[in-house]
Amino acid sequence: MPAPRPVTKAVIPAAGLGTRFLPATKASPKEMLPVVDKPAIQYVVEEAVRAGLDDVLMVTGRNKRPLEDHFDRNVELEHALQEKGDLAKLALVHEASQLATVHYVRQGDPKGLGHAVLAAAQHVGDEPFAVLLGDDLIDERDPLLEHMIAVQQREGGSVVALMEVPIEAISLYGCAAIDGPPGDVVRITGLVEKPPADEAPSNLAIIGRYVLSPSVFAVLRQTPPGRGGEIQLTDAIQALIATEPVHGVVFRGRRYDTGDRLDYLKAVIQLAADRDDLGPLLVDWLRGWLTTRG
Ligand code: G1P
Repeated sequence: MPAPRPVTKAVIPAAGLGTRFLPATKASPKEMLPVVDKPAIQYVVEEAVRAGLDDVLMVTGRNKRPLEDHFDRNVELEHALQEKGDLAKLALVHEASQLATVHYVRQGDPKGLGHAVLAAAQHVGDEPFAVLLGDDLIDERDPLLEHMIAVQQREGGSVVALMEVPIEAISLYGCAAIDGPPGDVVRITGLVEKPPADEAPSNLAIIGRYVLSPSVFAVLRQTPPGRGGEIQLTDAIQALIATEPVHGVVFRGRRYDTGDRLDYLKAVIQLAADRDDLGPLLVDWLRGWLTTRG
């Protein structure tokens, strides 16, 4: 058997309109919303880099300018911080521009996640690649992508991250049917996008991490609009099952959803509470505030 082609590229769809966060997202992409003191998208790029993927392609929409600026140098700001001797802040400014080689492609019409991933075809070429969705943040203490890449290299085909959710919540996610019990790595036999709870084949939800075979592009070109009238990535991976192995890695670590306002607030509080510089003060304050508030 030929050696598997290594995974070197990460694709991050970032073309959503972010309407749940209006007016904050009127002129700036939702990916730039700060989670504590870093834009959400930086956590995702850092995760890709930790897994060894420092070639990042962002699939953007109209408001891509702040994204480009964030991952680029800001010479004026660097100069000002240098003059002030504020080396700690200077390092933070540098860091974002040195993390990865970030490329950008526009999605054009927003026709769904599958359509966004298809926009990466030319950049990715003929090798397996990762897709990371910005609404899901994975705690760096609970590595997931590294594990998924290892499974892809061993088994070939594609690998999808899954998480057990309460069955009432499954209609918010893509859902997997699997062969056997939900161990750490499972063989996926079917995928369905956002099924009603009473039709769902399991409570295993797709969370936003994928390591995909390049054959997904040919399938996506043929995939008709599915749920919500959008070209669904889930439908294309379901079609791949007929020709290639599709595995799931069942994640049991800490995941933060930043996709809607309440979950976003929870993510900010959880991540801030874990920080040495902010956590103890924040948690103390929260305790007191909750008791006085009743
Ligand atoms: C997308 C996918 C869905 C997946 C989810 C994970 O849905 O279509 O299969 O479960 O991401 O966050 P969205 O949340 O973009 O509607």
